[in-house]
Amino acid sequence: MINSAYTPPLDLVRRPRRNRQNAAIRALVREVRLHSDDLIQPIFVKDGTGHAEPIASLPGISRLPLKALIAEVEQLAKLGIRAVALFPQIETSLKDARGKYALNEKNWFFATLKKLKAAVPEVLIIADVALDPYTDHGHDGVLDPSGEVANDETVSILTHYAVLLAEAGADIVAPSDMMDGRVGAIRDELDHEGLTNTSIMAYAAKFASAYYGPFRDAVGSKTKAPLDKSGYQLDPANLREALLEARLDEDQGADSLMVKPAGLYLDVISAVRGTTTLPVAAYQVSGEYAQIHAAAAAGWLDLVRARNESLLAIKRAGADMILTYFARVMAESLRA
Ligand code: PBG
Repeated sequence: MINSAYTPPLDLVRRPRRNRQNAAIRALVREVRLHSDDLIQPIFVKDGTGHAEPIASLPGISRLPLKALIAEVEQLAKLGIRAVALFPQIETSLKDARGKYALNEKNWFFATLKKLKAAVPEVLIIADVALDPYTDHGHDGVLDPSGEVANDETVSILTHYAVLLAEAGADIVAPSDMMDGRVGAIRDELDHEGLTNTSIMAYAAKFASAYYGPFRDAVGSKTKAPLDKSGYQLDPANLREALLEARLDEDQGADSLMVKPAGLYLDVISAVRGTTTLPVAAYQVSGEYAQIHAAAAAGWLDLVRARNESLLAIKRAGADMILTYFARVMAESLRA
């Protein structure tokens, strides 16, 4: 019998491959799936009436002036993307050490928000709350005499900025600055101004990451010397501290908690998911997107499969919603 092709079946109770034998059964047993409802498109916005400006390090992503912004958001709504996160690129001439233009009532970004909200009211506008688009040094707040970002003074500026964003049409304000106490201060001030329906999506666990590089190109906050934000953003080594941040933001009234970056911090997403009843957001940041595109451009990764896998992993880890530069193309492919 030694030469026979016949192999008697192994005596196995469990053959997990039975659940993988065809596409229909794989679909039945699939545990998480991507849906356009869960995706948030980050968009870079610029002033003026000019053209969309492609960003070299973010293939497929451009800085959009108002008209193109409205067209893009209308298009996203048709594809089922119902939330956008907006980041302004502020002209260098309007930046200073204190980011004063942020609180200028004539700041063009407020007018842009107003017009976008009027044009596409059904799409949620998420506005980032931090000073980095406005400061000439690129930090998220104002500096104390030693050159560190001054916590309490920054919180007081950002609180005012959050109210101006909400008044201009932001449905959700998203403090990304990592100052202590900012969520509570923003909640108090919003409520005080009667803006009780404005939500706060807290960048709760935001790490001092190398993966924000292309974003800093996009908003023009890149400086000659590499920016070190480790005096306020989390140490990539620290999970427990991330949970402390998440708890503090929840206690101060955050409506949802974000982990950022996403793909390198799946354990943090999972742990935050396990310790809060709030919705959890994850931000697949610019460097994660750029990395997949670069490898695909070199022919080393399959773009669509790597994209899908990266987003699925973030959902599997426990994110309810994902901010991703792939949102639009993902929604297109989910509809196809
Ligand atoms: C700024 C901010 C950053 C990002 C979102 N808000 C950059 C930073 O902290 O330096 C990064 C997003 C991305 O890389 O896609 N407060």
